[in-house]
Amino acid sequence: MTTTDAVAFWDGVYAARPAAGNPQPNARLTETVTGLPAGDALDLGCGDGGDALWLAGQGWQVTAADISAVAVERLAALARAHGLGDRVTAVRHDLHTSFPPGGFDLICAHYLHTPCDLDRATVLRSAAHALRPGGRLLVVDHGSAAPWSWNQDPDTHYPSPQEVAAGIDLAPETWTVERADAPRRIATGPGGRTAEVIDHVLLIRRTA
Ligand SMILES: C[S@@+](CC[C@H](N)C(=O)[O-])C[C@H]1O[C@@H](n2cnc3c(N)ncnc32)[C@H](O)[C@@H]1O
Repeated sequence: MTTTDAVAFWDGVYAARPAAGNPQPNARLTETVTGLPAGDALDLGCGDGGDALWLAGQGWQVTAADISAVAVERLAALARAHGLGDRVTAVRHDLHTSFPPGGFDLICAHYLHTPCDLDRATVLRSAAHALRPGGRLLVVDHGSAAPWSWNQDPDTHYPSPQEVAAGIDLAPETWTVERADAPRRIATGPGGRTAEVIDHVLLIRRTA
């Protein structure tokens, strides 16, 4: 699938639904970041922007990257509306072809799943290398499908945090795994329907 196809796919996803007025942050992000000193953050596949807006509100300078121009333009407008326009830089970026430049204290990749071509291990390895010493990479993946998910294939394999870490293949002298687990949470879907789902959480810290 080409970049053009991927852009069309994800622009279609976002254009098909109204802009979120007040997108919420990921609970794994808030529990990880609360108490950390603010710095420079990069949100990979920012989507509606709940994570970027929350981080900016906590004093972080956020680069929010997504392949969808619709998502990026909506987030930029939302950041301005929330008075956070100077803290959020929303950029259209295809992570399949390159990685955003710069060094970061926090990089997050939440549900960075796509039916289009994307070498996630390469993206996450680039992210680990883009961390400043002391910086953290938070990866939150689906560990199960909600009943309203488009993917109801019972044979779907959800890689464990340990498998994701093994795929990134980082030198233990420079990066350490701070968290690798599979917590449950109650997710809210269309029409306010709720269901218990599993997250796969991987938190890596660059130590040197
Ligand atoms: C399942 S959504 C998750 C969005 C958001 N992180 C969240 O937690 O709600 C995946 C996001 O990744 C973006 N994405 C998919 N492929 C991408 C690529 N090659 N480069 C950049 N972003 C991409 C999509 O546009 C979409 O916003």
